[in-house]
Amino acid sequence: MQVIHTVAELRARLKSEPSVVLVPTMGNLHAGHLALVEEARKHGSCIVASIFVNRLQFEPGGDFDRYPRTLAEDCAKLERAGCHVAFAPDEGELYPEPQEIVLAPPKLADQLCGEFRPGHFQGVATVVAKLFNIVAPHTAVFGRKDYQQLAVIRALVRQMNYAIAIVGVDTVREPDGLAMSSRNGYLSSEERTEAVRLNRNLRRIKDLAEGGARDFGALCAFAIKDLTDAGWRVDYVAVRNRSGLALPGPADHDLVVLGAAWLGRTRLIDNVEFRA
Ligand code: PAJ
Repeated sequence: MQVIHTVAELRARLKSEPSVVLVPTMGNLHAGHLALVEEARKHGSCIVASIFVNRLQFEPGGDFDRYPRTLAEDCAKLERAGCHVAFAPDEGELYPEPQEIVLAPPKLADQLCGEFRPGHFQGVATVVAKLFNIVAPHTAVFGRKDYQQLAVIRALVRQMNYAIAIVGVDTVREPDGLAMSSRNGYLSSEERTEAVRLNRNLRRIKDLAEGGARDFGALCAFAIKDLTDAGWRVDYVAVRNRSGLALPGPADHDLVVLGAAWLGRTRLIDNVEFRA
């Protein structure tokens, strides 16, 4: 596997590659990221993983500075997973001048995480568009763990006419159900034990909805109370349709319950799809 730090070198390396697949990441890789690389290998012959902690998508006072940077370990993991190129630019390489041109995300980004992280999806859309332009893949792979992000990226591809197929990969979890995340490393050992409560609540909503419950507001309120009583600060727990993340109407049956909540200083997100 080659590790490349500049746009020019990357373009030269990929010039004659007929089948490039991109896996964008912010590094500190875990089994969830590596599942994306595994999936990517089914779609092309040259897998490029990008590693870049994107300041644009962190809100002021967020965890940009303390976000874990573990390039050497990440490259070893990518190599073992069968990745061909790791693209790890520094900030000056991706943002050599102030990024004045940015992409306004679609309406579906205003709610859920977008409501609590102003500017986040604009930062994501902008950096992903840049990576698409730099790498020019025919396929890009993203995790369903960041469900709303995946919806924003699908809209980005549709509305900006990128000739890129977007592949979504199921969330990889710890044995107790906690979704793997680079931010899990922030948790104390007591918080780590408690952390599964978010997923447990989402799964309970899925089970009750599949059993016929249709008052999603009440189901979500119950989950929010359970989390709050256990000391969490809940941003949201909400049921949406899967197609556009809109409030489900009577005709919507393919649904997803999404949640975001703070455990101490750590913000965790998760989601569970269901049909009801
Ligand atoms: P990051 O949080 O590093 O995640 C990179 C990719 O890995 C995303 O597509 C995310 O959904 C996926 N991922 C993370 N945890 C996962 C899990 N447990 N199971 C499956 N997939 C998982 O998401 C970002 O970085 C950034 O916003 C980025 C798209 C790179 C733009 O900066």
